[in-house]
Amino acid sequence: MATKKFAGPSAYKLQQPGPPEVDFLFTEFLNNVAADVSTKETKEPVVAAVFGLGRAGAIHMATINRNSRIKVKYIVDDRKDKFDEFKKFWAFSDDITFLTPKESEKVYNDKSVNTVFVFTPTTTHHQIVVNSLSNGKDVFCEKPIAETAEETKKCYELAKQKGRTLFAAFMRRFDPAYRDLKNRIRRGDLGHVQIVKGTTRDSPLPPIEYLKTSGGVFFDCLVHDFDMFLWLLGEVPTRVQVSASALMEEIKAINDFDTIATILTFPSGAVAILDNSRYSSYGIDQRMIKVDNQRPSHSTEYLIGQEGVKFNPIYYSFPSRYKLAYQRELEHFLDVIQYGAPIDVNSWQILAVSKVVAAAEKSARTGETVYIDWSKDDIPAEYSYLHSLHHTFNGY
Ligand SMILES: NC(=O)c1ccc[n+]([C@@H]2O[C@H](COP(=O)([O-])OP(=O)(O)OC[C@H]3O[C@@H](n4cnc5c(N)ncnc54)[C@H](O)[C@@H]3O)[C@@H](O)[C@H]2O)c1
Repeated sequence: MATKKFAGPSAYKLQQPGPPEVDFLFTEFLNNVAADVSTKETKEPVVAAVFGLGRAGAIHMATINRNSRIKVKYIVDDRKDKFDEFKKFWAFSDDITFLTPKESEKVYNDKSVNTVFVFTPTTTHHQIVVNSLSNGKDVFCEKPIAETAEETKKCYELAKQKGRTLFAAFMRRFDPAYRDLKNRIRRGDLGHVQIVKGTTRDSPLPPIEYLKTSGGVFFDCLVHDFDMFLWLLGEVPTRVQVSASALMEEIKAINDFDTIATILTFPSGAVAILDNSRYSSYGIDQRMIKVDNQRPSHSTEYLIGQEGVKFNPIYYSFPSRYKLAYQRELEHFLDVIQYGAPIDVNSWQILAVSKVVAAAEKSARTGETVYIDWSKDDIPAEYSYLHSLHHTFNGY
């Protein structure tokens, strides 16, 4: 009874607030219930070739295969012995043709193919991207686009020259939690962000064979974290300081690192602090201040026993942690190529992140602080500190 006096009017007498904007899945449900054709895609499906059905390929195929906006015509992979299994496992129709890389000219010469998905090892990206763009196809490519900044730049130039879309798959940008954090930061909810902290510890331990062709931990892993910092803060760092070591002898033997601490300093004074590890035994640890780890089961988060509180495990690895992000990234790419939506992952951002990655690797190897000069780069005004000061102080 003591609290009865606090009861307000019946909820039926109050105006219902409706679903919050961040619950985009509920909005999708409402659209489905309304069955409003004006919200439905009407364009013909894109006709696609998929290169590579390994780890990344399997993640994306789970979405591509049931997406009515995509008609897959070719699958290219160098494991010919797996073609029958692929066909059965994914229930591919008979009109999908399987090719080995040597036969990939068929894809490039087929005018009906307008879209190419690249999920092959990093060393092969550049050639597939160039061949696809040269033959007038839009490209969705797993990161990185190429192994060097110079090649990456040329790929974007080619895309521009051919009037085609080149999309670098930075899936974390499409993760609802990170997107929400970015929106809050850019709206000013947190004021001037002074320090951002990030933790990325990979799970499971990647095979050494994969690491050998990955381009190194900076280009393979930290590239995602650096992209996040630049994207969240809306500025590019001018100072990079890294301390890195290889605790695992197998990683040391291939001249790579597994344990890294990075400090990025931005012109506004903001500082980003990042700790990375190639291996986390307890699942994929991906945190940024205000974005915590996620768990497969949310409603039974912990058990209390005599030994204390036991939490459910966090997601084991990126395919499960970022499942929604991969789906949303694909829909975004289709919106860009089918409806001309503005692309969310721009060429200048990819090139800027590569530059930060290269500076970080240099700092790790030399032990020196590396300063970055952006004066000759194509950084848009809104990412420039002087530009924001100009607006804040009206004529700095
Ligand atoms: N963004 C992410 O979350 C993410 C996650 C994993 C991997 N990746 C990227 O995806 C790419 C692939 O990595 P992975 O782990 O899937 O590798 P993987 O070795 O598991 O798979 C590669 C597949 O490509 C096939 N292949 C090799 N050469 C080919 C060619 N020339 N043409 C067609 N197929 C070919 C292989 O047979 C294999 O099936 C890498 O560039 C990696 O950086 C991104």
